[in-house]
Amino acid sequence: MSERIPEETINKILSSTDIVDVVSDYVQLKKQGRNYFGLCPFHGENTPSFSVAPDKQIFHCFGCGAGGNAFTFLMDVDGLSFVEAARKLGSKIGEEISVPTASGEQEAPPREDEKQMLQAHELLSKFYHHLLLNTKEGQEALEYLLSRGFTTESISKFQIGWSLPSWDFTVKFLQKRGYSLDLMEAAGLLVRREKDQSFLDRFRGRIMFPITNPKGKVVGFSGRSLHSDDEPKYLNSPETKIFNKSRILYNFHESRTIIRRKQQVILFEGFADVISANGASVENGVATMGTSLTEGQIGLIKRLTDSVVICYDGDSAGVEAAFRAGNLLLKHQLSIRVAMIPERLDPDDYISKYGKEKFQQDVIGASLTFMAFKLRYYKLNKNLNDEGDRLQYIEDILKEIIHLTNAVEKDYYLRYLAEEFDVSLEALQQQLAEIGGALKENSKPVKKAPAPKPYRPHVQTKLLPAYQTAERRLIAYMLKDPNIAFKVQDWLDGTHLNIDEHQAIITYLFGYYEEGMPPGTSSFIGFLPDERLRRIVTEIEMMSISDECSDQELLDYVQSVLKHQKMLKIKEKESERKEAQRQNDYRKEAQIAMEILQLRKSL
Ligand code: UTP
Ligand code: MN
Repeated sequence: MSERIPEETINKILSSTDIVDVVSDYVQLKKQGRNYFGLCPFHGENTPSFSVAPDKQIFHCFGCGAGGNAFTFLMDVDGLSFVEAARKLGSKIGEEISVPTASGEQEAPPREDEKQMLQAHELLSKFYHHLLLNTKEGQEALEYLLSRGFTTESISKFQIGWSLPSWDFTVKFLQKRGYSLDLMEAAGLLVRREKDQSFLDRFRGRIMFPITNPKGKVVGFSGRSLHSDDEPKYLNSPETKIFNKSRILYNFHESRTIIRRKQQVILFEGFADVISANGASVENGVATMGTSLTEGQIGLIKRLTDSVVICYDGDSAGVEAAFRAGNLLLKHQLSIRVAMIPERLDPDDYISKYGKEKFQQDVIGASLTFMAFKLRYYKLNKNLNDEGDRLQYIEDILKEIIHLTNAVEKDYYLRYLAEEFDVSLEALQQQLAEIGGALKENSKPVKKAPAPKPYRPHVQTKLLPAYQTAERRLIAYMLKDPNIAFKVQDWLDGTHLNIDEHQAIITYLFGYYEEGMPPGTSSFIGFLPDERLRRIVTEIEMMSISDECSDQELLDYVQSVLKHQKMLKIKEKESERKEAQRQNDYRKEAQIAMEILQLRKSL
């Protein structure tokens, strides 16, 4: 995230910036003891739980868990990219940030031609909107929209417009205002005719949906045809310097505050769905605009939340797409639910047919966990009265169960299968073990995808189990001092911390120190690619620890971490022992009992 600006520049900015100044532009802060407090800009609250620590140069909200340094604060609050935040902070301290263009055209300071492109889009979207609402030419389109259930309110909110069915209205409009037509062609607004190289409007006689980038600037359009014989149904801006589809989600900028407040985003396939859902008070929706979800779009989502509800069309293409999107989101450790629409409708049609309340309650409110969705998904195209299909279904589900990391969940779905198909739990467990064995043989040891953990706000008074507190204390001291970090690394001797996020944090921390970076939470936070990790680090930093720490204290924490792992190992062995007992394998049982004894002794 920060490769493009030299590390020294970033550090220079950080060391000359005071986070209290930066935050004060957005939040009214009051000093209380060492720290400042105010109302959190990231979630609605009446009593201040948002704090800024000037000594550490970080912020953290005890209410919603948001946290980071001056960079991430600006990125979150204004929806800026890292480079834009750097530029903004840089200009405050009189540092001009230039970014090497070779590595990132996207992030280069907006050059004159890009500014012109953005301006033209802004102007045109206003004009198209005016044509739709206030002119005779726009009347038919307006009536069509209203008849579909759009309201004047939603039309204004989403700046929907109308482009005239003329070959050169836009050409003239732009020319009159001094824009270079070549540039406007590069911006996707015009096309050039083969035969005489003259310019034509790209969008003619279409309902115009302006598309904004994560900063809220209009960077493209999608134009819907008014008549069904006018193909394609939606004509989109091409990829341009300012319009990169794979990094844009429709309505992302406009809904970001609500998404953050709700800690949840609803993912749709089309514009109409986002807009209808908005009318049904579901305002945390974004759309991929008909293409499959990309990693870039997931990156955008992760800036705001870890929790996604997929609400795709109810037809089989939509269900397939939901399955694919869910798996991709899972790979990125997001927590997923799927809201299913009956009767092969799309969300927009559903709302028109059944109304807002039913959409809120029976669709969004009744969303399924991803696993529950998969139980249904694998039933599609199968006839469960057929024995072969039934066996295939059981195998499909077992293959999913094997990837679950939560033991209770595993057990739950095994029982479900046992009951639903009237097979014994033992048989299922045996098949599960066989599938597991086959997987291990075929590949390197399967690395199980960590279970998505829905983000839960961290509250100040939370009581953590001892081993977790120990891990947090360790991290707190490791953040202060590289010597401690490497000492702890030796003591752990390759053992991972029990909490995945904690392990991820120290892995990044070692990398950070190995690059010769000085200790400093604020600067380390810039190294963390993931919102969730940043939140945890700031939370840990807000925990008060004494300045000094003896080796003995550190060793105690390490012991506590190792002990927990041994306890887990013992539990695992216990169940292996039971299994051996059940199979009357006395030798194996005795051997495992020995191993358990050894482990117990070493505690
Ligand atoms: P749909 O065909 O489901 O459209 O395509 P829709 O959202 O239901 O639109 P209405 O209700 O018919 O007006 C879903 C999304 O796929 C993209 C658009 O972004 C659309 O919102 N799409 C669709 C295109 O880009 N081009 C097309 O020709 C069709
Ligand atoms: Mn539709």
